[in-house]
Amino acid sequence: MTKRFEGKAALVTGAASGIGRASAFRLGSEGASLILADINIEGAQTVAAAIRETHGVCATAIRFDAAVPASCRDMVDRSVEILGRLDVLLNIAGIFDWNHFADFSDEAWDQIIGVDLSSLFHISKRAMPHLLKTKGNIVNASSTAGIKGQAYCAAYCAAKHGVVGLTKSLAIEYGGKGVRVNAVCPGGIQTALSDKVPWIDSFDPQLLALLNSKLNGGAMAEPEEVAAIFAYLACDEAKYITGATYAIDGGQLAG
Ligand SMILES: NC(=O)c1ccc[n+]([C@@H]2O[C@H](COP(=O)([O-])OP(=O)(O)OC[C@H]3O[C@@H](n4cnc5c(N)ncnc54)[C@H](O)[C@@H]3O)[C@@H](O)[C@H]2O)c1
Repeated sequence: MTKRFEGKAALVTGAASGIGRASAFRLGSEGASLILADINIEGAQTVAAAIRETHGVCATAIRFDAAVPASCRDMVDRSVEILGRLDVLLNIAGIFDWNHFADFSDEAWDQIIGVDLSSLFHISKRAMPHLLKTKGNIVNASSTAGIKGQAYCAAYCAAKHGVVGLTKSLAIEYGGKGVRVNAVCPGGIQTALSDKVPWIDSFDPQLLALLNSKLNGGAMAEPEEVAAIFAYLACDEAKYITGATYAIDGGQLAG
């Protein structure tokens, strides 16, 4: 395999699990030096050790809490200190929850908006001076819920639409300065996060049936399939792609 990230330094958030884990593995397999940032430090350390052993690249785990702005900023500073540079930022850490809108607590709203949207502002702002130096790029995790409405997840849907808006705004503002910014919109990927989806069955079986009927053959995708898109958008082959939103959703957004 061509090593598209040889000599590059990448920061991956949410790297302890699911899509973030698979993306860190993918970039490591192609030569990137890595920071794996997550609130689950034991999980991130385990993944970092496995990447070092399998691919022989530098991979370091850092604990941070995406809900806390100062923690986001410190994490970026420590990452650049360790890596010495920053070429790629993958903002993948995220949380998800369903509830009836009327039952959504203030705390749940703030937590989901904080982790799934505001953290991308704090992390990207702190990382931008370093990405300007390397003419690097950012790839953000949005969702099918960032493109169309989804019942029972108002906060998640608002946050993921916000991620698309942030992505497009930064792509335009920084395009002339050589920094690309893109978003991936997954739907129906087999991870710990998507294990929460069947909850909806308890209060709206018809909606779950509708969601499932739109997945390609009813099957979910593996995180590695999403990681391949993160890696493509982050590498130089995608140098003409910025401000884009790439769906990987088994056709859910097609109609
Ligand atoms: N799985 C899907 O079907 C799907 C669909 C659409 C979008 N996404 C998005 O993809 C991204 C990755 O999700 P996943 O499916 O791999 O889920 P996952 O639960 O397997 O991984 C999420 C990671 O984020 C970390 N995290 C959670 N809260 C954090 C916090 N406060 N600070 C730092 N790290 C924190 C978790 O520890 C975990 O390692 C998320 O942004 C999610 O919204 C996933």
